[in-house]
Amino acid sequence: MIPTLTWTPEGVRFLDQTKLPLEESYVLATTYEQVADVIVTMVVRGAPAIGVSAAYGVALGAKQTKAKTAEQFAPEFERICARLAATRPTAVNLFWAIDRMKALFAGLLAAGASLGQIQEKLLAEANAMYEEDIAACKAMGAFGAEFMPDDGGVLTHCNAGALASCGYGMALGVIRAAVERGKKIMVYADETRPFLQGSRLTAWELMADHIPTTVICDNMAASLMRQGRIQAVVVGADRIAANGDTANKIGTYNVAILAREHGIPFYVAAPWSSIDLATSTGDQIPIEERPAKEVTHHAGKQVTPDGVGIFNPAFDVTPAKYIAAIITERGVLRAPYAESLEVMDVRSRRLGFLEGQGDVGPEFFERLPEKVI
Ligand code: MRU
Repeated sequence: MIPTLTWTPEGVRFLDQTKLPLEESYVLATTYEQVADVIVTMVVRGAPAIGVSAAYGVALGAKQTKAKTAEQFAPEFERICARLAATRPTAVNLFWAIDRMKALFAGLLAAGASLGQIQEKLLAEANAMYEEDIAACKAMGAFGAEFMPDDGGVLTHCNAGALASCGYGMALGVIRAAVERGKKIMVYADETRPFLQGSRLTAWELMADHIPTTVICDNMAASLMRQGRIQAVVVGADRIAANGDTANKIGTYNVAILAREHGIPFYVAAPWSSIDLATSTGDQIPIEERPAKEVTHHAGKQVTPDGVGIFNPAFDVTPAKYIAAIITERGVLRAPYAESLEVMDVRSRRLGFLEGQGDVGPEFFERLPEKVI
């Protein structure tokens, strides 16, 4: 399995995604500040991966405290959470993870837990999130594999794979599961300018699994679709609003429109931690803007004239109307998404799915009565 992030007794070990595909090296973050830096610099990236990284960052912050009691630690805990929350604004998984750590901390504090117990429980919670994320990816794969062609081309944009999660991946998890079931798929990976998650990361991890992969430049997708070489599109998500509008890597919206024009189904695969029912539509999703240098420079070389204006939004929003289905670990959602997301949310609660209460795991997914709503 690709070791995207790993808890060790010394801290959190990250596979340095800025160095791939040429170099497989690791960064060890021994403080929560270093975890925050690793998220900002995109040594680790991808919505579920940064959520779990932040949870480990909180656990690390608790471990390194000089406070003597839980009460003394409380204001420091708030600062740790605030620092980690200030790293990247779009992927809701980051805030979901931090909120979950905050809820646990508040409960433990109210129950009179000692600092030692709190440190232990915060780490256990981060570990649980890590395991749940892998289980969720596997469940998405199981639900989504049937939507992949038996023999054909699948286009993906950016990297919603093992490198963007704790393992197996979302969009790439669906593809992996389809291949494991014997489907013959050629993956077309958009290179994903400017950070090149597609050509550097998606291609790297699929090649490691011997899944046939072809990298194309972002402006080639329409032509391939017209030639009949793409039978489905599957992408990940950084945040899905209550109406199904989906923020994902910049350029995803283009692909969705192209897919609609060519009659190709466009699927989103994302864990429930990417769903933000408190945000009503995509217009309310904050879109991160990244440094101009990512656009002005390519492979270390300047490729634009000095002084030219640069706009570098990291994400765009695909309106729900372009999405054929949202594949989650709880099941496959169909339009109208405002309804199906709400129904799935209520159904999950009825089944006793309480995040952070220790009852989440693969067995939860097996208890779901229906897989498609
Ligand atoms: O900027 P990144 O690399 O953190 O962007 C996130 C992504 O990898 C994509 O948008 C992805 O498709 C969704 S995250 C699984």
